[in-house]
Amino acid sequence: MNTLLQDAQLVLDAQKAAAHVGLQSDTIIVNGGRPLRGRIDVRGAKNLVTKAMVASLLGDTKSVLRDVPDISDVHVVSRLLEIHGVEISGSPESGTLVLDPANVAIAQSAEIDALSGSSRIPILFCGPLLHRLGHAFIPDLGGCRIGDRPIDFHLDALRSFGAVVEKLPSGINITAPNGLKGANIELPYPSVGATEQVLLTGVRAEGTTELKNAAIEPEIMDLIAVLQKMGAIISIEPNRVILIEGVEKLKGYDHRALFDRNEAASWASAALATKGDIFCVGAKQQEMMTFLNVFRKIGGDFDVEEDGIRFYHPGGDLKPVVIETDVHPGFMTDWQQPLIVALTQAIGTSTVHETVYENRFGFTDALVEMGADIQVHKNGLEGGNRRVPRRALEQAAVITGPTKLHGADIEVPDLRGGFSHLIAALTAQGTSRVSNVGLISRGYGDFTGKLKKLGADFSFEA
Ligand code: EPU
Repeated sequence: MNTLLQDAQLVLDAQKAAAHVGLQSDTIIVNGGRPLRGRIDVRGAKNLVTKAMVASLLGDTKSVLRDVPDISDVHVVSRLLEIHGVEISGSPESGTLVLDPANVAIAQSAEIDALSGSSRIPILFCGPLLHRLGHAFIPDLGGCRIGDRPIDFHLDALRSFGAVVEKLPSGINITAPNGLKGANIELPYPSVGATEQVLLTGVRAEGTTELKNAAIEPEIMDLIAVLQKMGAIISIEPNRVILIEGVEKLKGYDHRALFDRNEAASWASAALATKGDIFCVGAKQQEMMTFLNVFRKIGGDFDVEEDGIRFYHPGGDLKPVVIETDVHPGFMTDWQQPLIVALTQAIGTSTVHETVYENRFGFTDALVEMGADIQVHKNGLEGGNRRVPRRALEQAAVITGPTKLHGADIEVPDLRGGFSHLIAALTAQGTSRVSNVGLISRGYGDFTGKLKKLGADFSFEA
């Protein structure tokens, strides 16, 4: 796709996402320079909730999912489930969904197509649909534009279970003429999505599945908890090995989703960058330990309380850090974008090595336009003691601060980069016009309501 077409598609995606959650406009005008202060709720994790919704397809009875965030990705997955015959009651607005898979059926490919491009989740429908219907069709996948985001690990894993994969111009057609059988699978990289693919397929495959080099993110552990409630037998062995004993039947679950640690880390970064004080109700310490260490090293402070975590700028100077993004328990790739805004305010030079995606610093262009001093090294930086062995994908951003940010006209490029733009606009002196904010609602529930609660000065463009 050429750049003009990509930009047009981005605007369209942003508008669709904004419409899903009833956002008044896709552009907001922000008057920055005020600290964000107050208390906000953090609901269930996008990266668990959407997968738990897919897991409901595997049960014979209704599932109940609680603490669901009102984000556009949840609306897209709900629609995808509905066109496959799942009846959904409750709503993301109320925070509870009841998913009834009694009448699962093959969807019209035109209906799936209409949703194509707006979410990466359809690939995870493969295992459950193959078990239920013996057939799955997956449209072109969307998601954030942060790299190539191939699905080879997913397709290889499905083939190991005995699935037959046929690539068509409109998507991927998958069948299981001889059923799905347990397999020995070793992932080339501990991919979150591919681990979920193996879990959602292995639980009802015949026999035992051994998955090596699995992802062990807290959201994966919570998905395993969901599947165990449904009747699955899954054990977590040392050294990233997961064993799944296939069972014939699964029932529905009742589950309260794990909180969204990406959302909590984003608001924490906003507190630091704007010299504010934000209490995230629902945030928990254990899943955020790596983030909390970095937050403290930079000069932020936090209080872990019974009902959440208070993140604040305690006064004094912020200090630079060196970070490498990594799989869990390392520093998440989704945390670097909002934190980089805070690093523009630290005294000295910080370095962020991105090792998970090959194109996740595009958002820094807008920060530079706003006055930040950030240099992106597209082929990474050599040297120094590194925690993560160098991956071919690696890139680095070098941030020198402190710099005064000023308002600008900026376009949100993707979900996390978009939140980073929002924080930059709130930190900057003067007025910013931030467009495509619909993309932020893919993963941040009621972010404009929360901004109001935190005292941000902004309005929707008419
Ligand atoms: N990869 C492959 N082939 C595959 C799958 C992945 O090469 O078949 C590569 C990717 O290109 C990437 C790396 O492996 O370089 C890691 O990808 P992974 O599969 O772990 O990521 P994902 O499942 O696509 C989820 C989250 C991301 C989050 C990553 C890492 C969801 C819907 N998305 O993506 O979240 O960054 O794990 O933790 O769960 C976000 O929330 O903004 C977001 C992008």
